[in-house]
Amino acid sequence: MQYWPDNVYLDDARNLAQHVEPDTVALSVWSPPYHVGKAYERDMSYFDWKNLLRRVIEAHVIVLKPGAFLAINIADILCFKDSNMPRIMADNVSRRKRNDITREKVLEAWTQYPHYNRGQIAALLGCSEQTVDRRMKGNNIRGGKYAAQTRVKLVGGLLEQYALDCGLFLYDRRLWVKDAAWENSRWHTMSYRSVDEFEYIYIFWKPGPTMINKSRLTRDEWTAWGSRAVWYIPSVRANDDHDAKFPLELPRRLIQLLTEPGDLVLDCFAGSGTSALAALHEKRRFIGIDRSPLSVDLAKKALRQALHEQRQQSLELFPSIPKVG
Ligand SMILES: C[S@@+](CC[C@H](N)C(=O)[O-])C[C@H]1O[C@@H](n2cnc3c(N)ncnc32)[C@H](O)[C@@H]1O
Repeated sequence: MQYWPDNVYLDDARNLAQHVEPDTVALSVWSPPYHVGKAYERDMSYFDWKNLLRRVIEAHVIVLKPGAFLAINIADILCFKDSNMPRIMADNVSRRKRNDITREKVLEAWTQYPHYNRGQIAALLGCSEQTVDRRMKGNNIRGGKYAAQTRVKLVGGLLEQYALDCGLFLYDRRLWVKDAAWENSRWHTMSYRSVDEFEYIYIFWKPGPTMINKSRLTRDEWTAWGSRAVWYIPSVRANDDHDAKFPLELPRRLIQLLTEPGDLVLDCFAGSGTSALAALHEKRRFIGIDRSPLSVDLAKKALRQALHEQRQQSLELFPSIPKVG
């Protein structure tokens, strides 16, 4: 079955080359599982995860137009378990026990105040919302603080290799600096490790003619981010409907920078449909794919809402347009 533009499909990203027309995608932009223990990746070993990335990158050689781009948003793995790593044995002399927020403490607080939201529970316990989230969901745990044999795993090199192996070239990388989520939190660590406030966007290129069109951006956009490597975009704080949304501004910038109106944008880890929404706003076509039925429903709902709003706006601007449906 062929996947037609302007829809979101329930499927595994590894199958995309079977359904998306070859040489049609002008930009593929996605954020895959990060291998940090989120609910949607618990069934995947490190080996499975690497394989997933490799196969999905390979599929892009077929569907990307010559001269087109693949943009991957990802972060390093801050707590990579490695039993070969020598144990870190030193004591932490300044550790203050009272600041340890355990899962039990979070659960206790929520039992006492069942109507509190994540932010209120965090304020009550004197920790960040992320801490509450991690204790509840077990995601992205910086277990490195407590486990002696964890190291940081850089992910960019893996992607670069997988891409090169199949004929896609690393064209650029941007640093996405998120808001200082930790600024107001009483974050205490058992190590000298930092807390990352940034992620990467790796941009790969399929050989072929690429049109460079600076007029896609306004002068201010060029000054602020068109040719700048560091992008400051606040992260999505209220991940209430999806676990790991990226902000709309992130795919929007990539779409504006790298595609023309009418071009086809793909997100094969579509989640809540953020890239599809950005494509819609920027008058590009899109194909979304996600293997979770919940995500696909969410994305379709968000798109229906956005289309409805667009239609209302054009009716207000041009009241003589006949109503659809
Ligand atoms: C980091 S989230 C993407 C969030 C998205 N960028 C957004 O803003 O909502 C990763 C998504 O990949 C999906 N996923 C995980 N493994 C997949 C696979 N093999 N094929 C397709 N989707 C997959 C998950 O269901 C999840 O929605």
